[in-house]
Amino acid sequence: MIVYLNGAYLDRAAARVSVDDRGFLFGDGVYEVTRAVRGHLFAHPHHLRRLERGLHALELAWPVGLGPAELTTVSERLLLENGLADGEATVYVQITRGGEGVPRQHVFPPASTPPTVFVAASRFPSREDLRRRGAAAITEPDVRWGRCDLKTIQLLPNILAKQRAEAAGAYDALLVRDGLVTEGAQSNAFMVLDDVMRTHPPGPRVLTGVTRDVVLEIAAELGLPVREEAVHAIDLSRTSEVFFTGTTTDVMPVVQIDGRPVGTGRPGPVARQLQEKLRERLDAVTASPLA
Ligand SMILES: Cc1ncc(COP(=O)(O)O)c(C=O)c1O
Repeated sequence: MIVYLNGAYLDRAAARVSVDDRGFLFGDGVYEVTRAVRGHLFAHPHHLRRLERGLHALELAWPVGLGPAELTTVSERLLLENGLADGEATVYVQITRGGEGVPRQHVFPPASTPPTVFVAASRFPSREDLRRRGAAAITEPDVRWGRCDLKTIQLLPNILAKQRAEAAGAYDALLVRDGLVTEGAQSNAFMVLDDVMRTHPPGPRVLTGVTRDVVLEIAAELGLPVREEAVHAIDLSRTSEVFFTGTTTDVMPVVQIDGRPVGTGRPGPVARQLQEKLRERLDAVTASPLA
């Protein structure tokens, strides 16, 4: 597998990052994951905008010589070179504050310190079967920090929640803060309550998922009633449908929460329609203009 690291294309096994790297020492960096269909990046401008917002919030600039256009070129080249331009794939981008040769200290290294840029492509994890059958979820306290809107590489609370879900035989965790469902450990969460599709509003408590935005667009097209308003965890028992959305998650119906069935215990019509329409949009992707 060929990856991109700081301007070079090299074999994954040969890619090395310094132990001084602030990504390694502090989790000081941001990342993106983009879905690709037949070598074309899906909703890439959304991902690039979010990455830019993240860089800005961390007071990082675009790496020299690697702006949005170049990053697109690198991503597409990795898809091609790794034989991933036929079916579906994902592209992972990570930018950290670097720090090679700089003693470990909390404050930023000198402004001249180059960031570390890593890009890798891999096959899309299909999970089509699970999407058809529907998945289980657990509820977990949301113990994350106050800037969940930033896609930083600091993911320990997410990792622990996801691991607890896995241990319970579930796909993901529904995170609950102050009695409200925020999102999944690796996805956004939607609930159909009293015939209205609901999801937590954008803000510091959730990541504004690219798939979340696409799904909201599709729902508007379909004329489905939607409210960006959080659902109380106690109302989960009254939901007719629950589903997760995400780049690698797609639209994942949740048919069981903490061992209790959701609605009929089967994927519902809202999730099904959204899955279908998302598929149509994915299949229509032929280019990724930067507009
Ligand atoms: C915490 C969290 N929320 C939501 C999402 C979904 O975002 P997107 O649809 O942009 O992949 C992710 C994806 O990784 C995530 O980690």
